[in-house]
Order: sequence, then structure tokens, then C-alpha cells
Amino acid sequence: MKFFIDTAELSEVLEARDMGVLDGVTTNPSLMKKASERAGRAVDFHTRIVDICEMVDGDVSAEVTAVTFDGIMAEARVLAALHKNVVVKVPLILEGIKAIRALRIEGIRTNCTLCFSPMQALVAAKAGAQYISPFLGRVDDIASDGVQLLKDIVTIYRNYGFTTEVLAASIRHPIHVVEAARMGAHVATMPLGVIKKLLLHPLTDIGLARFLEDWKSFSA
Ligand code: E4P
Repeated sequence: MKFFIDTAELSEVLEARDMGVLDGVTTNPSLMKKASERAGRAVDFHTRIVDICEMVDGDVSAEVTAVTFDGIMAEARVLAALHKNVVVKVPLILEGIKAIRALRIEGIRTNCTLCFSPMQALVAAKAGAQYISPFLGRVDDIASDGVQLLKDIVTIYRNYGFTTEVLAASIRHPIHVVEAARMGAHVATMPLGVIKKLLLHPLTDIGLARFLEDWKSFSA
């Protein structure tokens, strides 16, 4: 299973990369806004994407903001030309699906984002998306079941041998990651806080404290 970090913050990308388990990065306009707020100035979108690509040996999703076919195609070409690691994030709307198909033919890889139903995911795979991004947390937020959505997509893709990779997004906690891994989702994209939480277990801390205590008295 690949681990992506869900951020536009360079320090967070570096921290996750230095853990040695980072396979890629996802960004979106809201994460760009957050990075700008933290920096106290408007971060240049293209420069930030290139900087992230230089830090990571893996796919970096950069999202278009156009909602027409022509607009998406134009933005996608510019983004894809920034760096070989760029995967263009395209929203799951009619114009987006048309663009995913056309970009596929041009050899530009896409991450189809804002997926909230198995049928949407089926259409995205048929159009030739490299990744499909179901938003687990946002589905849970409306008292529905994000994990079940992910399970349905993985099952449907397996049934028909689609090569589109399932990228579990909008992940809020480690249980989302465990469930995604259980069902064989290809990728989980997580905020840095969740990546760090994957390591935590109270018995590890208690066990380590005991070992260190025993070592102190033994070697004293
Ligand atoms: C990543 O590709 C998505 O844009 C992101 O995971 C959405 O997360 P959120 O629902 O926490 O904003």
C-alpha cells in the first residue's frame, strides 16, 4: 500500500519523507490556501508544486480549478508540463470525465477527485483515470459510510480488472487507513498527523519505559 501525504506544506512533506515511508503527495486548492495562510503570503501554486515534486520520488497531485472541458484541458497541460511527477487532479463532473479521457489519450495522468459513489468511480475508471479518490471522511461527515464506499469501489474494480488505482482520501484517523489496507486499496493519502498516529500504541510506550528502567538498574 502506498502512503501519500495530503498537504501543500513543504515542512510537512519533508518530515514525512524523512520517515522513509512516503510514496507521494496530494494537494488541493484548500490545502494551497492553508499553506498561504501559514506562510503569511500567497504561495505561488506552480512553484509550490515543483518544489514538492523535487522533494518526493513519487506522484504529486495538482488540481485544476477550471470546470469546462477546454479550461480543464488547458490547465492540465500546463500542470503536467511542470514536472514528470505531476498527476493532474480533475473533479468528477461531466466535463471532468471528458477531459480525463482526452488527457489519457495525450498521455497525461489524472487523479479523479471528489468521488462519493461507486457509480462515479466506475465511470472514472472507464474514462481512464490513473487514480480515483473517494473521500472517506466527508462521507462519514454526513452520517454515511466512507469505508463501505471504498470497499464497493475496490470490489467493482476487481470484478472488471480496471487498472485505475484506488486512492483513499479525506482520511481522518488510523482506522480509515487500516480499513483501506484490509480491503487492498492501492493508496491512502493522509495528513501528517494521521501518518504519525499510525506509529502509536500505548503498550509500545509502556514496554519501552520498562525496558529502559530495567536496563538502568541492571547496568548500574
Ligand atoms: C485529497 O486528495 C483530498 O483533496 C483530501 O484528502 C480531502 O480531504 P478533506 O476532506 O479532509 O478536506
